[in-house]
Amino acid sequence: MTVGEKPFAGKVAVITGASRNIGKAIATELVNKGAKVIIGDILDSEGDVTVRELNDLAGDQVAAYIHTDVTKYSNNAALFQLAEKQFGGVDIAIFNAGIGSNANTMFMPLDDEMDERMMAVNTTAVIKGNKVAMLHLAKRNGGVIINMASAAGLRGTPAVGIYCASKFGVVGWVRSCGIYNAVCNVRVNAVCPTFVETELADALGNAGDQDPFATLVEKSPKAKVETVIETVLKFIQEEERNAQTLVVLPDGVISDYDQPNPFPESLSKNYPEYLASVQTYSKEAIAYYRKRLAEARERYGI
Ligand SMILES: NC(=O)c1ccc[n+]([C@@H]2O[C@H](COP(=O)([O-])OP(=O)(O)OC[C@H]3O[C@@H](n4cnc5c(N)ncnc54)[C@H](O)[C@@H]3O)[C@@H](O)[C@H]2O)c1
Repeated sequence: MTVGEKPFAGKVAVITGASRNIGKAIATELVNKGAKVIIGDILDSEGDVTVRELNDLAGDQVAAYIHTDVTKYSNNAALFQLAEKQFGGVDIAIFNAGIGSNANTMFMPLDDEMDERMMAVNTTAVIKGNKVAMLHLAKRNGGVIINMASAAGLRGTPAVGIYCASKFGVVGWVRSCGIYNAVCNVRVNAVCPTFVETELADALGNAGDQDPFATLVEKSPKAKVETVIETVLKFIQEEERNAQTLVVLPDGVISDYDQPNPFPESLSKNYPEYLASVQTYSKEAIAYYRKRLAEARERYGI
């Protein structure tokens, strides 16, 4: 970086769910720091307004919007293709889109569509988006993927059980992605905010049926959007952070929450051959995944 140059000059970020609130605030910060951004969302008029504001802010064409339903592979592919066409490639992929409504689960109607929607948007879509992003970031010789999970993805609570399950899914996925840094120089991490003051927090706390959880949400201290942004910046800038979860708390606190190890030490002591095979696997898997990556890039012409 030369003197006076912005820290993210020359970087391109793709951000889902950035037509408003947390995603929009992250996009704005990245543009302020010199990045170009491509926004994918289903709120098209808000997305267009956001992009206009960002371009006005920079006094240049630094942002573009494309209608993206994150649950569809085709839409994720088009989002990343636009980033390549418009700005030449992608360095940072932020999967922020999510829903919080109908999160009050156990005794709600036995409705396939309602329950599957939460998992489709909050969990499966993140996995689909990460798979598309990985190919494009590998093409760029590396980058970072940041997934918006939640503190609800680290600790369960009955009132929002399905939302918690959907975000635990994101955390599980991220903790399974540690190898790709060695395979193709792509780090994958998760941001886990507690309540932040947005429409989504309102939806989580308001089932409209006198659920006492609404009062709990109202009284909960909220994290600031600025702290969420600070956490995203940590994941972009601190290159040792890989397959990690950072919890975003009120009062500007950001807390590391490492993966707990459920296996007692005695297991590896009592089964030395297993331990050795784990070490062999860790090395062989890198070469194995490099081959699979090359095949996947060829398959999709990326
Ligand atoms: N607000 C909170 O308290 C809180 C706490 C922890 C985590 N989060 C997470 O942060 C993220 C952003 O939440 P927010 O509070 O800004 O909420 P929000 O509702 O304002 O933003 C979510 C965005 O995702 C978009 N979206 C929803 N479904 C989509 C789809 N199928 N395809 C594309 N875009 C879609 C929405 O249109 C919206 O722009 C979410 O993943 C949420 O779960 C929020």
